[in-house]
Amino acid sequence: MKITVVLGSPRDASISTRLAMRLIEGAEEAGHQVKVYRICEMDVLGCHGCGCCRKYDTDCVIEDDLEEYFRDLRESGALVVTSPNYYSHVTGPMITFMNRHYCLSDKDRNSRLQPGIKLVGIFAQGAPADYEKYLPNYDWYLGTFLSKDMELAGRLIAGGDSDTGESGELMTKAYELGKSL
Ligand SMILES: Cc1cc2nc3c(=O)[nH]c(=O)nc-3n(C[C@H](O)[C@H](O)[C@H](O)COP(=O)(O)O)c2cc1C
Repeated sequence: MKITVVLGSPRDASISTRLAMRLIEGAEEAGHQVKVYRICEMDVLGCHGCGCCRKYDTDCVIEDDLEEYFRDLRESGALVVTSPNYYSHVTGPMITFMNRHYCLSDKDRNSRLQPGIKLVGIFAQGAPADYEKYLPNYDWYLGTFLSKDMELAGRLIAGGDSDTGESGELMTKAYELGKSL
């Protein structure tokens, strides 16, 4: 199947990106085709709140780099979203990206997407991985995608105390998760 991955970190040495890359290795090993988007290199406008999507039952009418993303998403069996934690939450660009999914519900708030797209969230933070205060923020973020009839396949959190070595537990988990998609 096709898998769409949206990377949220602007950093070359990003931990969330490295985890996603390990997941991709596993997914490709399992025979899946992966397309990667890097949100910080894309032209992505904020939702205009114009309501055209709900009024005319259409994908977003804004002409930017998300047009291609929405086409890919509709052909995908899985979506992977990643983000660093900036001030307790996912980054601004990843929230802007998420806001644009408003068009994927109709006026009755039913999803306009094919049901059952598998969803993976990968987050990196300086705080320890088990720091509970951030969990509701990550769940809130993933909740928007789940409201489009996606199914949560996994959530990985790298903390400042995590072993992020290539053969460490977290990287292995990412690889196995990719393979299981
Ligand atoms: C602007 C900024 C704000 C941050 N705020 C937090 C925070 O509130 N809590 C936290 O645990 N880590 C915070 N961090 C640390 C990052 O989440 C951490 O370095 C993470 O590994 C970055 O993800 P990446 O490696 O995928 O780029 C912040 C980093 C930056 C640059």
